[in-house]
Amino acid sequence: MCGIIGYIGERKASEVLIEGLRRLEYRGYDSVGVAVNKKDEIEIRKAAGRIDELNEKLKFTEIEGKSGIAQTRWATHGEPNDANAHPHTDCSGEIALVHNGIIENYLELKEELLEKGHEFKSETDTEVIAHLIEEELKKNRSFEEALRKALLKLKGSFALAIIYSKDKEHLYFVRNESPLVLGVGDGEMFAASDVPAFLAYTNKVVFLDDGEYAILSRDSFTVKDIKTGKEKKKEIKEIEWTLEMAEKQGYPHFMLKEIYEQPQAVRDAIYGNAGNIDQIAREIAAYDKIFIVAMGTSYHAALYGKYLLQRLAGKVPIVEEASEFRYEAGNLIDERTLIIAITQSGETADTLAAIKLAKEKGAKVLSIVNVVGSMATRLSDLVIYTHAGPEIGVAATKTYTTQLTVLAMLAIALGKQLKSGESAYLTKLNKELQRVPDLIEEVLKHESSLKDLAEVLKDKRDFFYIGRGVSVPTAFEGALKLKEISYIHAEGLSAGELKHGPLALIEDGVPVVAIAPSGKLLEKMISNIKEVNARRGLIISLGNSESLRSVSDIFLEMPEVDELLSPIVYVVPLQILAYHLAVLRGNDPDKPRNLAKSVTVE
Ligand code: AGP
Repeated sequence: MCGIIGYIGERKASEVLIEGLRRLEYRGYDSVGVAVNKKDEIEIRKAAGRIDELNEKLKFTEIEGKSGIAQTRWATHGEPNDANAHPHTDCSGEIALVHNGIIENYLELKEELLEKGHEFKSETDTEVIAHLIEEELKKNRSFEEALRKALLKLKGSFALAIIYSKDKEHLYFVRNESPLVLGVGDGEMFAASDVPAFLAYTNKVVFLDDGEYAILSRDSFTVKDIKTGKEKKKEIKEIEWTLEMAEKQGYPHFMLKEIYEQPQAVRDAIYGNAGNIDQIAREIAAYDKIFIVAMGTSYHAALYGKYLLQRLAGKVPIVEEASEFRYEAGNLIDERTLIIAITQSGETADTLAAIKLAKEKGAKVLSIVNVVGSMATRLSDLVIYTHAGPEIGVAATKTYTTQLTVLAMLAIALGKQLKSGESAYLTKLNKELQRVPDLIEEVLKHESSLKDLAEVLKDKRDFFYIGRGVSVPTAFEGALKLKEISYIHAEGLSAGELKHGPLALIEDGVPVVAIAPSGKLLEKMISNIKEVNARRGLIISLGNSESLRSVSDIFLEMPEVDELLSPIVYVVPLQILAYHLAVLRGNDPDKPRNLAKSVTVE
């Protein structure tokens, strides 16, 4: 999982590349490397480490040249060290390439290449590609044809950027199951794993599809099919995101900025879907066999979606982690099945694999996605965009609350079609949803007290998050946020589960965060809280009732909101708490260790 970029034009390539890599760092950050096509040779500088510290040492931006490629790596094959850092080259050093993905058959290919006398300098799967092209060039093929022949031998996922020292006028790019987008400038061309990498220069983009490769010169691009070598017509799209939108705007971290963007993001999700949600609901209303598939935070959104579809539309979806889906549940799909896939990036390998399986079996696929043009959107029959804008922080925040928002809209729209008896309540709920952005704004005003609370809690070793009914996914998500950025052990539980085992871990001062909005389940939550009180656990509760306050050690007062919509509001203080705990413990919340923004390997 990595970020790659390529540039050809009149600017100093190394500067454009390093600037682009900074914006791709969310995709991986264990090694960095740059290759620039110079007058007589390719110059490569690379090492393990982060961009800014390496730039001081290796002075990437001093390399002269007008075209090049670069990568910020997140290791999959071969530990993060200087030799394994990309770019990788063939034996002659005439071909250099960077890769995002995994070459599944690299060991077999490597053996064949070793037998033919190729010498390898790294332990990566990537290096075989450079040697394969070199091998094909020996057959007197053009570079393009040699590349295509080499690609046909690869199995796995790969987005590639390639330069060839004997062809300084062109850059070569490939996409297969890893994201890659071209940027079309005026007398200059770009390609990268994600748009923010070149958004400072152009907002005109071309999304490559799987199985395509592109040849870029300063003022033209050609896209062809890997299998046939035939040219394909591609549309240039204009992206509305500004570079400013993709930058921190004065916040110390992207995560905090993105937390604060939630009122607007939820508003955009509502407005962006108001016109199409009824139509989408009509298209799926007849399906009774429904699976919702997703991973991580998106999986928590799926659990929320299940609750709402049950309660408001009388549907009983099965929620599966996408990585588990294909083993058993996948066998149950047919053309009468609806798959709802939730993925903010639209590039999560596990979720894409579930979508592909569903498509093979003839099921209808509805995706809920943030990234326009991403793979999930192209594989699906129907798409609901969450309109959250770019999310750079690895921990999902605004993409989660917008997922919840569109799921609420979908459940309400379906309910209106299927449960006419409840239309008054559904209309009221829809109105209440319009207020949610303002309620989030209210919650954001309490950041400083959450920061104080983080001070009190920063040395705790274990946290528990409990909720009931529609609040269970919030408990899971609160725990995940804490784990991934503060590295504190945390468990999310349904409150009823507590006394079936986890209660044994509750002792003096162990924090238990209780998500307890007012509603029909509050009384039962209070009973569970009392079980924790009896073991002297530290109850931090979120709600708005006096009875809840009276059993809590720390009470976070929440605005009044319908219980069914409360998860969109209640998760926000949990995000802020996790953020401040991470910062107080000296962690970078935007780049948690061992994690990456989009998990494009299974
Ligand atoms: C959330 O904070 C995560 N970093 C992670 O769990 C994420 O939600 C998961 O990898 C799924 O990503 P997706 O929504 O892009 O498919």
